[in-house]
Order: sequence, then C-alpha cells, then structure tokens
Amino acid sequence: MKILIIGANGNIGKTITPALQQKHEVITAGRNSGDVSVDISSIASLEKLFARIGTADAVVCAAGDSVTSDLLSMTGEKYFTGVQQKLLAQINLVITGLKHINDNGSFTLISGKMGEDPAKGSSGKAVANGAVNSFVLAAALEMPRGIRINVISPSKITDIATEDLVKGYLKSIATSANGEIIRIGYN
Ligand SMILES: NC(=O)c1ccc[n+]([C@@H]2O[C@H](COP(=O)([O-])OP(=O)(O)OC[C@H]3O[C@@H](n4cnc5c(N)ncnc54)[C@H](OP(=O)(O)O)[C@@H]3O)[C@@H](O)[C@H]2O)c1
Repeated sequence: MKILIIGANGNIGKTITPALQQKHEVITAGRNSGDVSVDISSIASLEKLFARIGTADAVVCAAGDSVTSDLLSMTGEKYFTGVQQKLLAQINLVITGLKHINDNGSFTLISGKMGEDPAKGSSGKAVANGAVNSFVLAAALEMPRGIRINVISPSKITDIATEDLVKGYLKSIATSANGEIIRIGYN
C-alpha cells in the first residue's frame, strides 16, 4: 500500500511510522519535516501536496494543533485555533484527498481522549477532538468508492504501549473498519 503520513515527525507520527514502513511504501509529510512539505490548514497547500505525490491508498493524519488552558483564560480565538488547525484542517484534508485517494482506500484522522473524557484545562482540545470524532462518524456514511474513514483517539502517548497505537492504526488502514473512533489507552 502507498501510505501518506502527515505529521510523521511528531510524537504520534514517529511512533507509528517505522512499523508502517516495514510492509508499505510510506510518504512522510509535515510543515517543516518529511519527504514532502504541507500545511494542512491551507487548501492550496493540500492541493499542491497531492499534485506532487499523486494517488495514495491510505492517508493518515497525525497533526493538528489546539490550545490547552484553563476555562477562565480561554478566548474565542483560542478555541478557533483548534477549530482551524485540527478540525477544519483535517476536514479539508479529507475533502481534498477524496479526489486523489484510490478506490477502497482509507483516511485515518486524529482526535484524542480529551474529546470524550476531558480533564481540567482541556476544553480547547475537547472541542476540537469531539468535533473531529463527529465528522468521522458522519462522513463515514457517505464515503464513495469503498473508501473508509476512522479516527484514532489516543490518551497521552507516554501512557500508551507503542504496539497498541500501531494496532489501532492497522485496524483503520488494513481492515474493513469504517466510521470508528479507535480509542487507545482508555475505554
Ligand atoms: N502526543 C500525545 O500524547 C497525544 C495524545 C492524544 C492526541 N494527540 C494529538 O495527536 C496530534 C499529534 O500530536 P503530537 O504530540 O504527535 O504532535 P507533535 O509532536 O507536535 O507533532 C505534530 C506533527 O504534525 C506536523 N504538523 C503540525 N501542524 C501541521 C500542519 N498544519 N500541517 C502539516 N503538518 C503539521 C508537525 O510537522 P513539523 O514538525 O514539520 O512542523 C509534526 O510532524 C495532535 O492533534 C494531538 O492533539 C496527541
């Protein structure tokens, strides 16, 4: 399979990329790292990315910023960081990527435990993560050409076994799973 991993150089990306490289052709991407550079918050940059790499069988996103701050210090602007950089960026990745992903391919987005099981100070993350989960549940109902979409929702990476994270990604990429919130490190 030809797999595009956006954010391959980050904490999550670095953990899963070597395992996926063992059996697949992997193209890594990031803002300032990887085989190809992309800013997923820009549709023009996403178009340029796919023009450069051509088609893919699996698109994995392990990128997307959001703000951590206590509620009383949060502002609309801080929430908007997560909406723009994590939610809309991944939605635009899917909408743009649909024109370039092969039949029966898959999208694997990223959310996080704070979307369903928040801690104090996590409302900026919770809003973005919960909305990414909702997008995946709804978008899965309308994926064309046998394409699937799932979201990985990990707890803190330092609390997770690498093998559990890799297993979650393989479930999304290499099984028939569709419209699943794949929780790693919590129930
Ligand atoms: N780490 C955790 O414990 C954890 C737990 C649950 C959920 N998550 C979620 O997982 C995602 C990744 O977390 P992380 O800890 O791995 O982050 P990280 O270490 O900061 O890495 C982020 C990666 O994504 C790339 N990136 C960031 N913004 C981008 C953009 N606009 N366009 C293209 N690439 C971009 C970065 O590329 P450059 O380095 O080239 O800029 C980097 O490779 C985040 O959404 C985070 O909320 C993380």
